[in-house]
Amino acid sequence: MGAMTEPSPWWSRAVFYQVYPRSFRDSDGDGVGDLDGVTAGLDYLVELGVDALWLNPVTVSPMADHGYDVADPRDIDPLFGGIEAMDRLIAAAHERDIRITMDLVPNHTSSQHPWFQAALAAGPGSAQRERYLFRDGTGPDGLLPPNNWISIFGGPAWTRIVEPDGRPGQWYLHLFDPEQPDLNWENPEVFEDLEKTLRFWLDRGVDGFRIDVAHGMSKPPDLPDMQIAENRMLADMDSDPRFNHEGVHDIHRNIRSVLDDYPGAVAVGEVWVYDNAAFAAYLRPDELHLGFNFRLVRAEFDAEEIRDAIENSLAAVALENATPTWTLSNHDVEREVTRYGGGALGLARAKAMALVMLALPGVVFVYNGEELGLPNVDLPDEVLQDPVWERSDRTERGRDGCRVPMPWRGDAPPFGFSTTADTWLPMPPDWAALTVERQLADPESTLHFFRRALRLRRQRGGGSALTGLSAEGGVLTLRTASGLTCVLNAGERPVELPTGEVLLASTALAGGQLPPGAAAWMV
Ligand code: NOJ
Repeated sequence: MGAMTEPSPWWSRAVFYQVYPRSFRDSDGDGVGDLDGVTAGLDYLVELGVDALWLNPVTVSPMADHGYDVADPRDIDPLFGGIEAMDRLIAAAHERDIRITMDLVPNHTSSQHPWFQAALAAGPGSAQRERYLFRDGTGPDGLLPPNNWISIFGGPAWTRIVEPDGRPGQWYLHLFDPEQPDLNWENPEVFEDLEKTLRFWLDRGVDGFRIDVAHGMSKPPDLPDMQIAENRMLADMDSDPRFNHEGVHDIHRNIRSVLDDYPGAVAVGEVWVYDNAAFAAYLRPDELHLGFNFRLVRAEFDAEEIRDAIENSLAAVALENATPTWTLSNHDVEREVTRYGGGALGLARAKAMALVMLALPGVVFVYNGEELGLPNVDLPDEVLQDPVWERSDRTERGRDGCRVPMPWRGDAPPFGFSTTADTWLPMPPDWAALTVERQLADPESTLHFFRRALRLRRQRGGGSALTGLSAEGGVLTLRTASGLTCVLNAGERPVELPTGEVLLASTALAGGQLPPGAAAWMV
C-alpha cells in the first residue's frame, strides 16, 4: 500500500483578506477603524468570498508606527476596542467559517514597553539592558553610534540615551523608528515571552500569525558595518548584515514547535529575502508554513517580467516543496491601481492582474480596498502620519497614501466608514464613485468582478498547480491543473483569444479579442 497522503491544511489554497484595522470600519465614531468595525464588516467579507483575515497589529501600542510598536503584546489597544472586541471578532468570524490571523511583531517592542522602560532605568550592564541591543558609542566620549547601520525609515539605526544619572549614555539599536527598539534574541527571556504571547492568542482561538520582519530578529554578534547603498523597504537586502542572519532559523523553529501544539495554526512570514535558496530556508518543514513573496509587487505590468516573477516564486518554494503565496499590494506599498499607471488604465491593469494572481497556485492575499479598485491617495503634507515622512527629513512621503479608510456608502466623506468626518486620514470626495454601496448597485463594478472571480476560483478548484506558463509578444498565458487558462494582454494591441469559453474577463470583450491591459479566464 502506498503512503497515506495527509489532507491539505485549510490555508493551502486560501484567500486571505488583509484588514488594516485603522481603515476598515469605525464602530465608535472616533475616526479610527476598530475591531467591532471589522466584525460589522464580516458579512461583506463572506459575500466577497474570503477564507481568512490577516489583521495588522491591534495590540496595545502608542501607535508611533500604527501598532508595529507594541507596548503589551497580550492585550488589545483600547483604540481598537480592547480584548472583548477581539473575542467578539474571533467568535463572529468562526461562526462564518472565516479564520483570524494576527500580526506578531517579534523583532522589536515599543519604547513604552515596560521592558524598555526598565532597561533605561537600570543602567549599563544590567540584566534589563540585556533584553535589547544597547552598546557604548564609539569616538571621543562615545559620541558616535556603535556602527553605521541606518534605519529602514531613514536616519541612523541607533539612538543615544540619557543615563539615569543625567549623563549622555549608551546607544540602542532600532532598525525602524527610535520608538521601536530591537530586542536581543540571544537572551532566552525574549523567546520565553514570545511563547507566552503565541499561546495567549492561540488559546483564545486565533488561527495563526503573520510574522513581522521574519528575516530580522537575529543579528551578527559583532554587528559589522553595512554597505551603505540605497536604503528602502524594497531594497535588495540579501547582503545586508541587519537582516537574514543565520540565527533567525532557530527562532522560527522555536515558534513552529509552539504552533505545532495547535493543529491548523499557520505562520506566514514577512521575508524580504530575494535569493531563492535563502528564501526557501524559511519554509523548511520545521520553520514557517508560508512566506510572503513580493516579486509580483515589484514586477512592472509587462508579460515577461510577470512571468519571471511567477517562475521565480514557484522555483523558490519548490526547493522546500512549500506552498506559494501571492500578493499585489499591502499597507507598505503603493496601491497597484496607481503603480500600474493610475486612472482608468491603472484600474484596468489592476483587475487584469487580479485574474492572474487568482489563477496562481497556493495562497492569495487581498488588501482591503483592493476589491474596490482604490488608488493611492496623494495626501497633503500636514496630514501625513507615517514616521517615514519625518525620519526622511520630509523627502519620502511614506505609506499613508495606501492606508486611507474604506468608503462604504453615501456621497461625501466619511462615506459610512465612521460617523465623524474627521477620519484619521482624510478621504477624497471623489471616492463617492467607489463606495461599496455604489459598486453593489452596479453589476459591472470592480467589487462584483472580485466577487465573481473569488467565487469561480473556489468553484473551479483554484489555487491548483500550473501546467503551463508562457510570455510571448506581450501576452502572458497560464494553464492550471484544474483546467483553467488565464490570458493577460500586457501589450499594446488587441489579441485573439484562444478558442474556448470565457468564464470571466476583466473588461468587456468584443469579437473574441482581448484588449490591451485586460485578462480573461477561459475553459
Ligand atoms: C513591516 C510592516 O509591514 C511595516 O508596516 C512596519 O512599519 C515594519 N515592519 C516595522 O514593524
